[in-house]
Amino acid sequence: MHPCGGINALIFPIKMNRDIIVGVIGSGAMGAGIAQVAAVAGHQVVLYDTNAAALEKAKTSLSATLQKLQEKGKLESAEEVLARFTFAGELSAFTHCGLIIEAIVEKLEIKKSVFAEVEKIVGPGCVLASNTSSLSITSIAAACGKASRVLGLHFFNPAPVMALVEVIPAVQTDEALVGAAVDLMRAWGKVPVVAKDTPGFIVNRVARPFYSEAIRIYEEGVADMATIDWAMTELGGFRMGPFTLMDYIGHDVNYVVTETVFTSFFFDPRYKPSFSQKRLLEAGWLGRKTGRGFYNYAEGAVQPEPNRDVALGNEIKERILAMLINEAVDALHLNIASAKDLDLAMTKGVNYPKGLLQWCDDWGADKCLARLDSLYNDYHEDRYRASILLRKKVDGGEKFS
Ligand code: NAI
Repeated sequence: MHPCGGINALIFPIKMNRDIIVGVIGSGAMGAGIAQVAAVAGHQVVLYDTNAAALEKAKTSLSATLQKLQEKGKLESAEEVLARFTFAGELSAFTHCGLIIEAIVEKLEIKKSVFAEVEKIVGPGCVLASNTSSLSITSIAAACGKASRVLGLHFFNPAPVMALVEVIPAVQTDEALVGAAVDLMRAWGKVPVVAKDTPGFIVNRVARPFYSEAIRIYEEGVADMATIDWAMTELGGFRMGPFTLMDYIGHDVNYVVTETVFTSFFFDPRYKPSFSQKRLLEAGWLGRKTGRGFYNYAEGAVQPEPNRDVALGNEIKERILAMLINEAVDALHLNIASAKDLDLAMTKGVNYPKGLLQWCDDWGADKCLARLDSLYNDYHEDRYRASILLRKKVDGGEKFS
């Protein structure tokens, strides 16, 4: 064995925390944000991009952001943090890195080739992570000679603000690396959760019904978008309603995640995308950023008023909530993550007012199950099937917490 090989060599540098140099591949929205988090935590950071203009843009915006943080008293010295950065246009700058986080375009073949290239440059103890939202970490790891050093570190946008990081071991990942990555993320001030390498990991899987069931209710004519948004914010306590949120995220991102999760789950009807959203994408009505999505953001456009009927609002809220809870319960049933991590993921990654398992306990698993069974009986669609774990909890009179 190579003198630096084996588990210890893999774990040793990551445990050294601030002493390792962190490399970030891709200086876009996510890469620049992750690089900022690592530098503020005290690491030397190498930020690499093939696009010189993107790198320059990241440099300017990082400098401005750090300066602002200093002015607000949130950072002692912007200059000191900036001095920890190396901006690189060559992969060779990664030679001495102990951890590399990739945040480039979401294309499996490109990610695989970049990982294979990087592996030729770094030392044997260097950990390689991907920030992918939807690709299999196992497939990415398979491109590496030492696949045991690869894992997913999924940050949320904007990375310096959102606390959650999903830590995703691939099938090949060294088990000890998971704990070391969790410790490192905590040292960076993040809230790490561990998720199985399955489509959407935790958040992008469990959150799907927030969008899809809302669209379904709208498509059926049960209520209009404004009323559904009102029900979920005013009665449900969510920060944004589903339609406002989809417009904010952009349909190019939100629809594509839904479609990817659906196809990756072997076309499970529970994740089926909608034509309403697909048509918006085809029209180029991507949401807020193009001035038009489900809503019209043109200056002077009149926004629709919700029908503030509380009985209707509660019906909408309970239907979407039952679907969300069912998704979280089923993820627990399939050991995608622990109950604690499932709840943390939704509160820290997408700002849900409450963890979904906790919500199930508070609402009553029996009420949630009754709602799902009634939908299932009405529709005879697999989409509304209740998780066996929810049924078992109701039968046993048990809670999740
Ligand atoms: P982006 O488009 O803002 O930035 C990607 C950057 O990677 C660009 O600057 C591009 O020049 C660079 N790049 C492309 N190919 C490269 C290569 N071969 N080598 C080096 N640099 C290369 O993308 P964004 O939004 O930052 O996303 C990056 C990754 O993070 C994707 O995998 C995405 O799925 C994931 N992600 C995105 C989130 C989001 O909300 N935008 C949230 C969580 C994860």
